[in-house]
Amino acid sequence: ELLKGQAPKGFKWRPSRVHVIGAGTMGADIAGVCVASGMEVTLQDISAEQLEKGIKAQGKLFARKFKMKPARDAAKARLIADPEGKGISRADVVIEAIVERLDVKQKLFADLETKIKPGAVLATNTSSLKLEDIASPLKDPGRLIGLHFFSPVAQMPLVEVVRGANTRDEEVKKGAAFVTAIDKFPLITKDVPGFLVNKVLTPYMFAAMKRLEEGEDKEKIDEAARTFGMPMGPIELADNVGLDICAHVAKILGQSSEGSRLDRLVASGRLGKKTGEGFYVWKDGKPVKSD
Ligand code: NAI
Repeated sequence: ELLKGQAPKGFKWRPSRVHVIGAGTMGADIAGVCVASGMEVTLQDISAEQLEKGIKAQGKLFARKFKMKPARDAAKARLIADPEGKGISRADVVIEAIVERLDVKQKLFADLETKIKPGAVLATNTSSLKLEDIASPLKDPGRLIGLHFFSPVAQMPLVEVVRGANTRDEEVKKGAAFVTAIDKFPLITKDVPGFLVNKVLTPYMFAAMKRLEEGEDKEKIDEAARTFGMPMGPIELADNVGLDICAHVAKILGQSSEGSRLDRLVASGRLGKKTGEGFYVWKDGKPVKSD
């Protein structure tokens, strides 16, 4: 039932306020999607520059979604920069999308637990850390769920709702209800490395990278995947996800990238779309293709 993207039956819980922490590749777009679904969102980041950039980037989504200026302006007004986290205590859903480091996330969640309102959902967008570990400093570890979005968030309809070893059923249901409220499909998964999608997708992206190293043209690989029916090719997808994240997830899944082009790109700071260069050079949010 939930696999079909329906809200849990008989479960009437409709969130309207969301607080997102981390305004990078994922957090800013998660905030934008929630706003586009009518919610009020406060967005927090330790970097003022990143916060401003993340909010500005949502202009494109709002322009696509709301053709009339008043609706567009109303959406912009629902996305609030909140560097101090004032929105935490009012939010129905708090989503963490900060750096993928256990110690940093643990510290954040211990603090969040003292501030959120009763009944609010506490979620992490982690792609590789165990929920049990992230929740270990919490007084109520059964509260934490994973809400694992995919990049690019606005285009990817699936969100994995991750049930940690201690997560309560009620929280999983709320997570699924939230995902349907933002017009996406919840897929409830166990907390195993790679969850469900990355476990399948990562070897596919790695096979494409290997083919590239064997001398195949990246645009040809991507075009083949698109012609096959994928919305985006695997090399472009890797750049979208962030090459540091790809290398990290691969490591968690036991896939070695040592000595590969991926590793060299990460070492040189070319992390894909977010830094303007990865396998492709990126301009205005799009890969520059050769003629
Ligand atoms: P990113 O590096 O683009 O953004 C992280 C943001 O968090 C930065 O703007 C940074 O300034 C901010 N930040 C760091 N520590 C903070 C703190 N203590 N308080 C507030 N803000 C803080 O990272 P990205 O790619 O958005 O990833 C975020 C999370 O989402 C990670 O846990 C990652 O594993 C996960 N994820 C990433 C996916 C991707 O495709 N990039 C897909 C699914 C999950």
